[in-house]
Amino acid sequence: MSAIVVSGKELANKIRTDLKEKVSCFIKEKNVIPHLVVILVGDNPASISYVTGKQKGCEQTNMKSTLIKLPIETTEKELIKEVEKLNNDTSVHGILVQLPLPSHINESTIINTISVEKDVDGFSPINVGKMVLNEECFLPCTPAGIIRLIKETKIDITGKHAVVIGRSNIVGKPVSQLLLRENATVTVCHSRTNNLSEFTKSADILIAAIGKPKFVTADMIKPGAVVIDVGVNRINNKLCGDVDYEAALDVAGYITPVPGGVGPMTITMLLENTLEACRRLVIK
Ligand code: GUN
Repeated sequence: MSAIVVSGKELANKIRTDLKEKVSCFIKEKNVIPHLVVILVGDNPASISYVTGKQKGCEQTNMKSTLIKLPIETTEKELIKEVEKLNNDTSVHGILVQLPLPSHINESTIINTISVEKDVDGFSPINVGKMVLNEECFLPCTPAGIIRLIKETKIDITGKHAVVIGRSNIVGKPVSQLLLRENATVTVCHSRTNNLSEFTKSADILIAAIGKPKFVTADMIKPGAVVIDVGVNRINNKLCGDVDYEAALDVAGYITPVPGGVGPMTITMLLENTLEACRRLVIK
């Protein structure tokens, strides 16, 4: 058996083409250009690459983006001031502070400073709470992209056993909530789970978000399963996911590649959130 490869790149391009049209209509109708501001503190190479992708995405969809680059020695107080300035700037609709931040800055303090209406990452406690309660909010981008990828397979999520490996605030925890909302039966595993493969082998949908290269081997996958690989790792400078992709192709029913899977979807969900933030702020 050879798995069907679910291309996030192709799906993202399709969504971005539609979004570009929606943005153009919005600009014509409201005379306002959706504007995302990204703050980057320091020069972490992975963060620079993510931020560049976000800017490119804005360009592709006719939205405005501004990158504020701050030196690594920026204090927490200075960063808070910068965020507050953007909160009060009516020409800004989405604010994203690229994580991780340098260790002398408290991430949750900064996330809490971003106005909930402009929190296009969906990271603020208010947005997270609303997501859990199924209320209108900005969904976090990687988990929202994962759900869209699963839906692209046309497999009905309802009643399926979804196993999430990883419990991070950015991926593991929120994606487990979104899967629950889609009526999956959800198991969350992590680095301390005993007999991990006993869980993964029973997964109809397996989300690998543990941050260890090729951690999920073929023998851990149920034949025919939908495998979503969230990992971004490097072996000998070559990008690879959390799944042993080549071996998994023989067992899984559907699989996302790395690169070209979840990554492009994350940015695309951010672009959708930015248009939505602008729409809400303009209507207000
Ligand atoms: N760092 C890695 N992923 C993300 C993300 O989705 N948002 C932000 N702000 N930082 C990140």
